[in-house]
Amino acid sequence: MIETIENQTSGKQENPTAKNFPAFFSCWDIHAYYGESYIVQGVSFDVREGEVVALLGRNGAGKTSTLRTIARTADPQLKRGEMWLDHQALHEMPSHKAAQSGVALVPEDRRIIPGLTVEENLKLAQIAEPCGWAIERIYEYFPRLAERRTQEGITLSGGEQQMLAFARALARDIKLLMLDEPFEGLAPLIRNEISKIVLDIKNLGITTIIVEQDAMAVLKLADRAIILDMGKVVFNGAAEEVRTNKELREQYLAV
Ligand SMILES: Nc1ncnc2c1ncn2[C@@H]1O[C@H](COP(=O)(O)OP(=O)(O)OP(=O)(O)O)[C@@H](O)[C@H]1O
Ligand SMILES: [Mg+2]
Repeated sequence: MIETIENQTSGKQENPTAKNFPAFFSCWDIHAYYGESYIVQGVSFDVREGEVVALLGRNGAGKTSTLRTIARTADPQLKRGEMWLDHQALHEMPSHKAAQSGVALVPEDRRIIPGLTVEENLKLAQIAEPCGWAIERIYEYFPRLAERRTQEGITLSGGEQQMLAFARALARDIKLLMLDEPFEGLAPLIRNEISKIVLDIKNLGITTIIVEQDAMAVLKLADRAIILDMGKVVFNGAAEEVRTNKELREQYLAV
């Protein structure tokens, strides 16, 4: 039987309101579709302020789709459920409003804008209201971007492009940073550099959700892990627990 919202059984819990749902971010029984394809099948979880959560699962488990649902991108379409960020109802917002409310998604392909320099990419992000970090603060934090401020963004190396993608998110005033496979396609040394940046972001107290194939790498950085399987949450607990539980990893992750 093909699952649809109508014939699946989760989601019997009472819906929250911002008032009785104290987490900084929460999604509650969210269901999302690409056309007829039912992909996000009743996902619920909370994130506390300043927490770093690893969102894990095999290829096709629905990790990217969950991030896209939270960011309110055009696809997949949210059909049911609630998402609250710092008392704002994301599920009632169109995409541009969600971005204004502080949700930032750094997609896997990083979306550096062709034809624009590093600095122009950053300035474009700063047009968004309200603004986050000033350009000079970004350059202090990312000296490699400062050196390359006049270089066209898409000619940067993979690691530098990932830095620019992070920096662009920080140039806006964000409340929830979502990183989709930040280590994708990067050499080990550059991965270490990106890990350090993620750790810095964590130390700044920015609430973050990271999707990553390399579970062991991200579990070192995360406070908590959520595992998805076939569009549903199958584990929600301490990152340490996944790190030390080989059976759990073998069952749900490609490690
Ligand atoms: N635009 C789309 N239209 C239809 N189905 C889609 C679309 N994008 C993704 N899917 C399907 O949704 C399911 C979940 O995909 P998703 O990209 O969320 O998985 P993922 O966990 O991020 O996987 P990966 O680790 O490979 O990135 C897959 O079966 C995929 O084929
Ligand atoms: Mg993905």
